[in-house]
Amino acid sequence: MIEYDNVSKVFFKGDTRVHALQDVTLSIGAGELIAIVGPSGCGKSTLLNLTAGLMEPGLGEVRYEAETVTGVNTKVSYVTQKDNLLPWRTVEGNIRLPLELRRGAPLGRSEIRERIAASLKLVGLEGFERHYPSELSGGMRKRAQLAQALVCEPETLLMDEPFGALDAQLKLVLQAELLKAWEGSGKTLVFVTHDLAEAISIADRVVVMSARPGRIKTLQQIDIPRPRDVFSIRFTADFGRYFESLWDALRDDVVQLERG
Ligand SMILES: Nc1ncnc2c1ncn2[C@@H]1O[C@H](COP(=O)(O)OP(=O)(O)OP(=O)(O)O)[C@@H](O)[C@H]1O
Ligand SMILES: [Mg+2]
Repeated sequence: MIEYDNVSKVFFKGDTRVHALQDVTLSIGAGELIAIVGPSGCGKSTLLNLTAGLMEPGLGEVRYEAETVTGVNTKVSYVTQKDNLLPWRTVEGNIRLPLELRRGAPLGRSEIRERIAASLKLVGLEGFERHYPSELSGGMRKRAQLAQALVCEPETLLMDEPFGALDAQLKLVLQAELLKAWEGSGKTLVFVTHDLAEAISIADRVVVMSARPGRIKTLQQIDIPRPRDVFSIRFTADFGRYFESLWDALRDDVVQLERG
């Protein structure tokens, strides 16, 4: 579904040069849930931006369904790291926005209504249609963002630290809901997170990236059967083993980053 072929990306700003990604090669299969973890600034968001076609790699190629991504990739929905709900639109208006902006034949009114209702239900925001983003809690804003991404019925969903700023309990609740919505949907999901436990709990495979320039350090298949219970999974022996070995891969880069 998605292929990164020796992808490198360097940003230039005046005299400074930031080497964000280096030689990233990875194939993501259709219907796969892949989690990407790595220290801050290692190029995780950049990788998603490249996948969404918001920028181009300096070297290498990003392919989506075997075609090089050269412009905005309309087959993916992207829950960006920064919350970009429009404050002057209600929840319903925000969810409707991607349908208004969509290319191709416009959808009929009843289909729009049905799709919005279905995505509100999927994320558990029924009853909050008329609320404005400022009237929502942090978790509800995340749910609204997710509904906005799902309303287009994308084949692929890119999520950038969607639950990063939430408290530990709410995170688990939303992970469980996400898994419930994803399992059996056939959708490809690329999920970026700082949280190794979150990555192992939900993913088919976990990619660990190194500190900048971001390279793939480890790629680990997570053979924990589904459906998974994110609340209890972390007490299993399998989870412990994956955590230990992946933390080994991640630790040095995180510690190094913290020490500057
Ligand atoms: N549009 C841009 N212009 C210039 N530099 C950029 C741009 N986007 C990202 N960078 C730089 O590239 C590096 C990687 O950024 P990126 O946002 O991909 O990291 P990240 O892994 O998502 O970090 P975090 O976990 O903190 O979100 C950073 O040093 C950042 O400053
Ligand atoms: Mg980021």
